[in-house]
Amino acid sequence: MLNIVLFGAPGTGKGTQSENIISKYQLVHLSTGDIMRDEIKRGTQIGALAKSYIDKGLLVPDSVIFKQLYFRATSFNNAPGFIFDGFPRTINQAVVLDKFLDKKGFPVDVVLYLDVTEKESFNRIMYRSQHSNRADDNEDIIWKRIAVYHEQTKPLLNYYQQQNKMITINGMGTIEEVFSLISTEIDKIIVKI
Ligand code: AP5
Ligand code: MG
Repeated sequence: MLNIVLFGAPGTGKGTQSENIISKYQLVHLSTGDIMRDEIKRGTQIGALAKSYIDKGLLVPDSVIFKQLYFRATSFNNAPGFIFDGFPRTINQAVVLDKFLDKKGFPVDVVLYLDVTEKESFNRIMYRSQHSNRADDNEDIIWKRIAVYHEQTKPLLNYYQQQNKMITINGMGTIEEVFSLISTEIDKIIVKI
């Protein structure tokens, strides 16, 4: 089993590269952002609660995220592995994920950190906002999301560095160039496990 955390600020390419990774390595994609947007689209109570945070650029409460992620993760029996996209986002989420995976005997193998300048990730989201229909893809909220990333999510770099699992990927190239760097790192991990 191969468990990858794809880590990075908003707009660094986590969703884009997850798609590439799942088609090459047949992993199950778990994006907490996508899960929340699906709840919103289906008009559920969870969706309404999540929307009240997402539209402000704030993190959805951990309890909501855990429950939804748990449902999805446990519905895939015999998955060859997971790619976690946009999760964990707080130290608390990382600790809970570690406990959950350790119990199963398949810990996080690697954390791929997509390193992109703030200006570039902002520009990428602004460009996407022309057709994305995401309420949080507007100038003020993008800056809020980036600020929340710095305050609450970036400390995880240190958390995973201490576990020796962090690999930095230069995310500034084209989608193909970044994917090539990612593939090289994943291939190295596969040889080891
Ligand atoms: P989430 O959905 O996770 O959004 P995000 O982290 O803000 O990031 P994005 O999805 O906008 O960017 P991305 O890194 O996936 O980049 P993408 O590939 O799309 O979270 C949204 C909200 O949900 C959060 O704010 C929070 O409220 C809530 N939430 C989610 N998870 C949570 C959690 N665990 N806990 C609490 N709350 C949570 O690329 C962006 C654009 O750039 C695209 O148009 C793409 O085509 C383009 N692009 C990608 N790569 C390149 C490249 N190399 N060159 C040029 N363009 C590129
Ligand atoms: Mg995304």
